[in-house]
Amino acid sequence: MTKAFKTLDDMGDVQGKRVLVREDLNVPMADGRVTDDTRLRATIATVTELADKGAIVLILAHFGRPKGQRNPEFSLAMLTQPYSDVLGRPVRFINDVAGEAAEAAVATLNPGDIAILENTRFHAGEEKNDAELAAQIAKLGDLYVNDAFSAAHRAHVSTEGLARQLPAFAGRAMEAELDALEKALGNPQHPVAAVVGGAKVSTKLAVLKHLVGKVDHLIIGGGMANTFLAARGVDVGKSLCEHDLTGTAEEILDAADKAGCTVHLPYDVVVAKEFKPNPETRTVNVHEVAADEMILDLGPNAVEALGDVLKNCRTLVWNGPLGAFETPPFDMATVALAKTAAALTQDGSLVSVAGGGDTVAALNQAGVGTQFTFVSTAGGAFLEWMEGQDLPGVAALTA
Ligand code: 3PG
Repeated sequence: MTKAFKTLDDMGDVQGKRVLVREDLNVPMADGRVTDDTRLRATIATVTELADKGAIVLILAHFGRPKGQRNPEFSLAMLTQPYSDVLGRPVRFINDVAGEAAEAAVATLNPGDIAILENTRFHAGEEKNDAELAAQIAKLGDLYVNDAFSAAHRAHVSTEGLARQLPAFAGRAMEAELDALEKALGNPQHPVAAVVGGAKVSTKLAVLKHLVGKVDHLIIGGGMANTFLAARGVDVGKSLCEHDLTGTAEEILDAADKAGCTVHLPYDVVVAKEFKPNPETRTVNVHEVAADEMILDLGPNAVEALGDVLKNCRTLVWNGPLGAFETPPFDMATVALAKTAAALTQDGSLVSVAGGGDTVAALNQAGVGTQFTFVSTAGGAFLEWMEGQDLPGVAALTA
C-alpha cells in the first residue's frame, strides 16, 4: 500500500544534513528521575537510524506546560542524561530552540551527533503556531521529522508549523502508530470490537458517538457504564453516575441500534459499600444493586460473555479500564479480558490496538502490555483519533 505520508525511507541521503526531529519527551518524573521511560525508548529507532546515516539530529520536544515562559522546572536539560542512557550514546543539550545562540551551538555539531534542544514551550509562539517562530526554528535544520504521534493533536510550531517550512517526514514511531491505527479503525477487518472504559462518560462522548458508526461491538465498562445502565432504567445505587447525561447515553444507544452496532453493558457486577482496597464485596445482577452499594467492576459472567465476543472478532480497539482497576480486587474484569485479547492476538486471530490515559497502565498490570498488536503511549491524541478527528500533526505530514 502506498503511504499517504513520507517516511525516513523517502529522505534520500542525510549525511551531514541537520534534521529537526519532533519527539515526545513528556515523561513522568519524580524526584528528578524518569519513572516511566516508554516514550524515551519509543524514539530510539528514528534517532539512531538518522545518526547512523550521518545526520545531525536535533531533537525538538516539549515538557510540561510552562506557558511560554522559561522555567527551569520544565527544562529539558534534566532529561539529557536519562535520554543518553536510554540511547546508549552521548547526547548534547542546546539551551534554546531558536535564535543566534542556538544557531551557533548547532554549527559546532558533527554528522552523527545528537542534541536535545530546550523545551519548545519556553517560547509563547510555540502553542500559537506562530509562523515567525517556525521560520526561526526552521533555520536550524534542513529537514523535519515528526515522530511524536502523542503530541500530534496539538497544532503547534514543533508539531505542525515546521512541516510547512521544511521537507517533512514521519519518523519510525509515528509510522508504526499510523499503520496500526489504520488497521484498527481506518481500514479494519470486521467484525471490529471497541472496549471503552473509564470513570466518566462526559470525557468519552465524542469517542462513543464516532465508534457506534464504525464498530460492530461496543463494550462499555468502567464508571461510565453506570450512566448507560441508568439510562436503561437500572438503579445503580450510589455508583459513580452522571445522571444528567442519561439522555445523551440513550441517544448513543439509539444511534448504535440504527448503525447495527451491538452495545455490551455489564449485566453482572461486583459491588461494595466502600471504595477502598479489599472491602467486602458482592457479585450481583445489575438489577440487584442496593441503594448503599456502588458498582466497581464487571462480574465474571459478563467477562466470560465479552471474551466470547472477542473470539468472534478480527479487530479490537481498547481505551480505558473496565473497573476501578487501581484498587484491588476491582481489576479482575480488566485483567481477565485483557488476557483473553492478548491470547487471541498471539494466536493470530485478532488485531488489537490499545491506547489512551490509564489503558497502558491497566494492560501492564494485566501483564499483557507487550502482547497486543500495538499499544500507543498517546493520551489525548489517541482519544482524538478515536473521536475521528484529523490530528493537525498528522495532517501536516500528509498534506
Ligand atoms: C501528552 O503527554 O499527552 C503529550 O505529550 C501532550 O502533552 P500536552 O497535553 O501538554 O499537550
